[in-house]
Amino acid sequence: MSFLEPISEEFCEGNVIKGRRLAKIIRAEIKEEVARLTELHGYPPKLVTVLVGDDPGSAMYVRMKHKACNKVGIASESHNLPADTSQEELLSLIYRLNKDVTVHGILVQLPLPRHIDEETIISAIDPNKDVDGFSPRNIYRLFYGGEMLSSATPQGIATILDSLNVNLTGKHAVIINRSTIVGKPLIMLLLNRNMTVTVCHSKTKDLASFTRQADVLITAIGRRKSEDDPYFITADMVKEGAIVIDVATPLGDVDFENVRCKASYITPVPGGVGPMTITMLLKNVLAAYSFDAAQTNVFTMDAISFGGYLT
Ligand code: GUN
Repeated sequence: MSFLEPISEEFCEGNVIKGRRLAKIIRAEIKEEVARLTELHGYPPKLVTVLVGDDPGSAMYVRMKHKACNKVGIASESHNLPADTSQEELLSLIYRLNKDVTVHGILVQLPLPRHIDEETIISAIDPNKDVDGFSPRNIYRLFYGGEMLSSATPQGIATILDSLNVNLTGKHAVIINRSTIVGKPLIMLLLNRNMTVTVCHSKTKDLASFTRQADVLITAIGRRKSEDDPYFITADMVKEGAIVIDVATPLGDVDFENVRCKASYITPVPGGVGPMTITMLLKNVLAAYSFDAAQTNVFTMDAISFGGYLT
């Protein structure tokens, strides 16, 4: 697969990055690779999701992941457990899935109920099946430059940037988000691309003084500023010619229509980063399966991961 080739004409409309189009291009490549490897090995890649409780938002995300798997030929199975499932019960399911040779990817949907310790659960997942990239070993791999099983949303952002025909080296990226799932892994992915990275968050003073310096501005605040003045990122906060990536859902952080006039590229909400996230999950399942099928051990996985294979 060749996700690194710049194909911006195929997925941009003017300066608007159409994430759905890019996702479609990459999913078609994944589908082809899944078919080829399924034929070669005689069995398909398989993702198992685990959902604890009945949060409708989480249930919807999990359904979307299964649907996406199905469309590219990845087998999937769901375990929907009641909200009062104990930590021990959940751990024993994970140990079972770790040992199951027909399972290549394990995804425990977050957040978990309060009585379950997320870190304990995530750490229990076999790192070579951890398609979320949340486990300690995959975070360690990311620190050493390996991106193969890294968090899906940051990978989606990095893939958008890689696919634009721009030189990122030495450019200033400003990230507004410091979460474990988005902001922190994204720092590593952007450093790997030789960018200078600044991270802002809810306690940052004078946010605009940072955003105005950004060649690439990535924002994931995800709430309204106020009723009359909803957007955190307005045109006066953006440098002329910046690339603006809005990760916030379901409503963007960026005053899209006005910022669009200043940006060299901009992602819309919806239809920007969102479709890329599940695509990167599919890519991770395929990567986990490929290595398992090749019967590599953890050391080989690390060696290849550090080389940035498949990114
Ligand atoms: N909850 C919100 N985002 C995610 C994600 O990327 N993975 C998992 N497992 N849970 C989530």
